[in-house]
Amino acid sequence: MKIFISKILLASAFIVSISNFAISAEISDSASQSKANIAILGVGGTIAGQAQSAAQVVGYKAAALSVDDIVKTIPEISSIANISLCEQIAQIDSKDMTDFIWLTLAKRVNQLLSQDDIDGVVITHGTDTMEETAYFLNLTVKSDKPVILVGAMRPNSAISADGPRNLYNAVVVAGSKNSKGYGVMVLLNDRIFSARTVTKTNTILPSAFNSIDFGALGYVVENEPKFYNKPVRLHTVDSEFDISKIKILPKVDIVYSYAGTHSDEAVKAFVKFGAKGIIHAGTGDGSIHKSTMLSLIEAKRAGIAIVRSTRVAGGIVAKDKNYDDNFGFISADSLNPQKAKILLQLALTKYQAKDNKKIQELFEKY
Ligand code: SIN
Repeated sequence: MKIFISKILLASAFIVSISNFAISAEISDSASQSKANIAILGVGGTIAGQAQSAAQVVGYKAAALSVDDIVKTIPEISSIANISLCEQIAQIDSKDMTDFIWLTLAKRVNQLLSQDDIDGVVITHGTDTMEETAYFLNLTVKSDKPVILVGAMRPNSAISADGPRNLYNAVVVAGSKNSKGYGVMVLLNDRIFSARTVTKTNTILPSAFNSIDFGALGYVVENEPKFYNKPVRLHTVDSEFDISKIKILPKVDIVYSYAGTHSDEAVKAFVKFGAKGIIHAGTGDGSIHKSTMLSLIEAKRAGIAIVRSTRVAGGIVAKDKNYDDNFGFISADSLNPQKAKILLQLALTKYQAKDNKKIQELFEKY
């Protein structure tokens, strides 16, 4: 009799535990259905960096860990999003970024975001050219779903590495419904920036990224993006640039001005090596040293687009009739030289250097 009763108890405990299991499977199924599906693409950088000791933050190897390996070190990510895929697009120190990687990345992001089962994309990337990749994607991604570039200033192996927290926060932003329509964003140090205005302002600090003059879009606090600004310049779904069939971007180079400059030699060399456009990183509000002027005028006459930007970190280079009306140059508005280069590259996929008025309009819209 005793044996019979304990068998009944055992059987009912088994049934209860099976039904508990079914309930918890159902709960976890519906929890994972309510979480956003995020793709994480790896490009390398310090966020994937490894040093010989935990104290080392200089002279380490960037792009040492795969994106998969980095994500595995942050198990907490699985509680905020379903990571649908981790894919290595490149494995580089971002100083070595190329147009080819940009095109490959932009095409892959567009492919992924066209899928109903992907809600956002996070890109792990080196900080040195992150602002450039972000701006290129801002003009070439055809979706309003969130795309977040994330990096780190300290390698993954460092004491107090900033990468894991940054990546976690990037997934928070990518997975939030509130993040739609802001264009491509950059996230470091709990702050969210617009691709158009963000720039690297410090060589070592975790707070290296800033948006001079225009401020951050917002913060990430306790698993939530908090937005305070919205980009007004055209981007993503409103951008007219289509790279889907483009294999090579027009060659555009940057010439830097300084007291006692020999920049005219650089202009002539870039022309000789086939530049289709030149960005002049001028002094002040885009002014040009008198010794460089003739080489730029000749380059323009030879069919090369000339854009005046500035080496100054803030402010704008406004249209100036002395340069722009007289010689057909274009002013960069508030784009720094490296971002002006990207907009000119894309502009030259649609227009020729002689269409400087049309190209000028683009600099006022994007
Ligand atoms: C890089 O840009 O790939 C190296 C430096 C960094 O990520 O901070």
